[in-house]
Amino acid sequence: MLAVEGLSKRFGGFLAVNQVSFEVREGEILGLIGPNGSGKSTTFNLIAGTLRPSAGSIRFEGAEIANLAAHKVCRRGVGRTFQIPRPFRKLSLIENVALAAYYGGTRRVSRAEAWQHAQEILDLVGLPSNPAATPQGLGTAALKKLELARALATRPRLLLADESLGGLDSTEMERAAGLLENIRSRMGITIIWVEHIMGVLMRIVDRVIVLDHGEKIFDGLPAQAAVDPRVTEVYLGKRA
Ligand SMILES: Nc1ncnc2c1ncn2[C@@H]1O[C@H](COP(=O)(O)OP(=O)(O)O)[C@@H](O)[C@H]1O
Ligand SMILES: [Mg+2]
Repeated sequence: MLAVEGLSKRFGGFLAVNQVSFEVREGEILGLIGPNGSGKSTTFNLIAGTLRPSAGSIRFEGAEIANLAAHKVCRRGVGRTFQIPRPFRKLSLIENVALAAYYGGTRRVSRAEAWQHAQEILDLVGLPSNPAATPQGLGTAALKKLELARALATRPRLLLADESLGGLDSTEMERAAGLLENIRSRMGITIIWVEHIMGVLMRIVDRVIVLDHGEKIFDGLPAQAAVDPRVTEVYLGKRA
């Protein structure tokens, strides 16, 4: 479904993503992990069209998307959440989600359809859809749900989820992870899921890629990642 080849991103003299290649198969949940600053969000920004690559190719369903603007990538069927949620704070939750459905959708919908779809998505993620509910005063867990809702409202075939568990307690983490599992199994959406901690993610993903200093250092099964010397060194430090 997605083929990334030789992807690099340079910020001035600093290589944030260095010659990264990987593939994503339709229907899989791929984990993308690595310490803070290893290039995970930058990789998402390159795929989603928020940033332009310095080098490399990104093919989605066979077509090159590496230099497409973000709104075009979104309308082709790649949805993404942002690590730091920035909803329209003065709009209601349902307006936030309906806007995504109306303007970001993979197909054109009427206002009524966008509204209806937003309602369904809010139900799915467990947020209130009454027009009085706004993002004001929402905690981290709810804001992360809203991020997911806005991405899902565009009817993506591939979802890029950036740190959906960041800042959550363990109960909230289990719920959020369960939600991602449902999104894949019930909606048939392929997922790339970024976290900087291994934890719950390793139990759910089919495969995991590990980044360190912008380079891919591992690509394989979660059980193998847990015992891989380079991966354990990055996560636990070098053995004395
Ligand atoms: N727009 C930018 N300009 C300069 N440096 C950036 C920019 N975005 C990210 N970086 C740097 O690139 C590196 C990778 O960042 P990021 O992809 O956000 O890491 P991660 O998501 O893995 O924590 C970090 O050192 C970060 O400071
Ligand atoms: Mg990040």
